Amino acid sequence: MSESLSPLFELDAPLPNHPAKYTDALLVEMATMLRGRQRILDPFGGTGKVFALNHWLPDAQIEAVEIEAEWASIHPRTTLGNALHLPWEDGYFDAICTSPTYGNRMADATLNSPTGNAWQTYTCQLGRQLHPENSGQLNWGKKYRDFHHRAWKEARRALVEGGAFVLNIKDHIRDKRRVYVTDWHIGCLCALGFRVRKHEMIETPSLKYGQNHEARVPYESVILFELEHKA
Ligand SMILES: C[S@@+](CC[C@H](N)C(=O)[O-])C[C@H]1O[C@@H](n2cnc3c(N)ncnc32)[C@H](O)[C@@H]1O
Repeated sequence: MSESLSPLFELDAPLPNHPAKYTDALLVEMATMLRGRQRILDPFGGTGKVFALNHWLPDAQIEAVEIEAEWASIHPRTTLGNALHLPWEDGYFDAICTSPTYGNRMADATLNSPTGNAWQTYTCQLGRQLHPENSGQLNWGKKYRDFHHRAWKEARRALVEGGAFVLNIKDHIRDKRRVYVTDWHIGCLCALGFRVRKHEMIETPSLKYGQNHEARVPYESVILFELEHKA
């Protein structure tokens, strides 16, 4: 009888796919906007790329929250949780840095594409239905806006007055028309007591396939707000 071989090393388990990680060019701009901040939260943490900010901000305590266990487990410092119910006390953070879902075609909830190739959607990349409170299944519309109004109120609760809020967001084209998702988020945050301090538009590589590919908005916004007053 042959003896079974003991492994010389552990093989890494393949990382779960994720359709919408921060691109590196955005991180540099975010780090510039967050200089001097001590406690930074990403309530829509995804793969935990926000922790890369420690490269430029080595003294900052960074936290991230992600609702899907597979994605939360990618980075050991990510907390499995819900952006609508953050497990920190009022005013704990002096900065938020985040990229919510954009309300675009990535929200399509079909699990299996007809070709068998996984689409660049949250549901297809995760490989199962999303958590019921995952905004990754919300197309642009009232439910999307209501969800983010609640999420930004909860983020404001956890932020100190004078705190920074760095938002990465993008418009998209639907039925040949531009959907002004960015303006909506700016209006929502301003109504909650934030003021825009800086708005950078950064060119990012666009997907070269899918519906409307010829008419994609060619940049993403990175916007720095400051919380002037907690209403
Ligand atoms: C645009 S992605 C962020 C990706 C992240 N910036 C990265 O680099 O990996 C938005 C993330 O928010 C998560 N999410 C959606 N709804 C959530 C909720 N209610 N609470 C926490 N996370 C949520 C999604 O699962 C998704 O991973």
